[in-house]
Amino acid sequence: MLTDKCIIVGVTGGIAAYKAPDLISKLVKAGVDVHIIMTESAAKFITPLTLQTISRNPVTTQMFEFPGEWEVQHISLADRADLMVVAPATANIIGKVCAGIADDILSTTIMATRAPVLFAPAMNVHMYENPIVQANIAKLSSLGCHFLEPGTGRLACGYEGKGRLPDVDIIFDKICSLTVSTRDLTGKTFLVTAGPTREYIDPIRFLSNGSTGKMGYAVAEAARERGARVILISGPVSIPVPPGVTYIPVVSARDMFEAVVKHYQEADVVVKTAAVADYHPKKQLGSKLKKGRDDWALELTKNEDILQYLGRNKGNRILIGFAAETDNLLENATRKIRDKNLDFIVANDVTQPGAGFGTDTNVVKFLYRDGRVEQMDKMGKKEVAHHIVDRILSLQETLARGGS
Ligand code: CTP
Repeated sequence: MLTDKCIIVGVTGGIAAYKAPDLISKLVKAGVDVHIIMTESAAKFITPLTLQTISRNPVTTQMFEFPGEWEVQHISLADRADLMVVAPATANIIGKVCAGIADDILSTTIMATRAPVLFAPAMNVHMYENPIVQANIAKLSSLGCHFLEPGTGRLACGYEGKGRLPDVDIIFDKICSLTVSTRDLTGKTFLVTAGPTREYIDPIRFLSNGSTGKMGYAVAEAARERGARVILISGPVSIPVPPGVTYIPVVSARDMFEAVVKHYQEADVVVKTAAVADYHPKKQLGSKLKKGRDDWALELTKNEDILQYLGRNKGNRILIGFAAETDNLLENATRKIRDKNLDFIVANDVTQPGAGFGTDTNVVKFLYRDGRVEQMDKMGKKEVAHHIVDRILSLQETLARGGS
């Protein structure tokens, strides 16, 4: 998605500058033409030579270096950039840009560019919470700059709290979202299911699971950004609906089944990330169940397997399933491909760090009908989503050529 994009990475003077090489290396591997601008204080934490070696481009630190070329350097870079990302962004650079100060090469380039600007703040928790910093972020956001939330944890200054540089995978995901311009899904309709379902026992209590919908929403957003029409059928979650999708909220597995069947005919591709409950209570009580008994057995009835139903009526559609497992990942996921008649399945071992429900990253394997297995590295859920879309496209090309 990022091949041949020109991205300026601004590095400012905080301890998190030592993480900048990871981001730069990931961008370079993705085919990005990366140009680094460092502040003088950043160069006290990490050397320009390190960043130059990783980015494979000259690093700019000074405003008034004698130019090797005739171009005014900060203007030419600012013009060429598809995106500027400042990582780490200190309170100082945020404050300077907010106040319209352009007194060094980085602040001047930010001022001169018309490309989107993304800040990945990293600072002491009290600095981040300072109303001045918060007001600056709010003002710059209202002017169209983009901000990531810092991570929470132990900070270099010894404090616990919000202020860590966001995970490199999360910065990378955001960069993909802000620069994507491929419209390779135009004319296609994606039906995506996401989140958990709730199976009510009485008006207050329900059976459910820990799915947060992040993976499914990332797939919906990625497909939409690449030009697809997207129908997102989602169980109850608390994350924002991606812009531009047709959103259908549902509660139970039965509701999800009905909504999916209603829209199935329109879909070219179905991605079923939802964590559907396998059972519902045999009886749903009309009023709140009062405690009293020491033991209580809840009788359950099996829900329809939505994906299996779709697989029996597959037609020319591409069907993708998800399998979150704790044991025998390959064996279970392979069986699901066969039972549900899928084109491929995205399998993850939810016991692994950085994988599964609630995380912003995932560690997945793609398993195909012919037994092939592709192991992916740990990456942001949005990046996983783009990989899924890439594989759907190549599958469609193979099918169009008459392959199987
Ligand atoms: N799925 C579905 N309807 C169900 C259960 C699952 O559509 N009633 C879909 C999920 O959305 C997912 C895939 O089937 O894409 C695999 O779901 P999973 O819960 O891992 O598998 P199950 O078939 O339910 O098997 P088990 O719970 O025994 O692992």
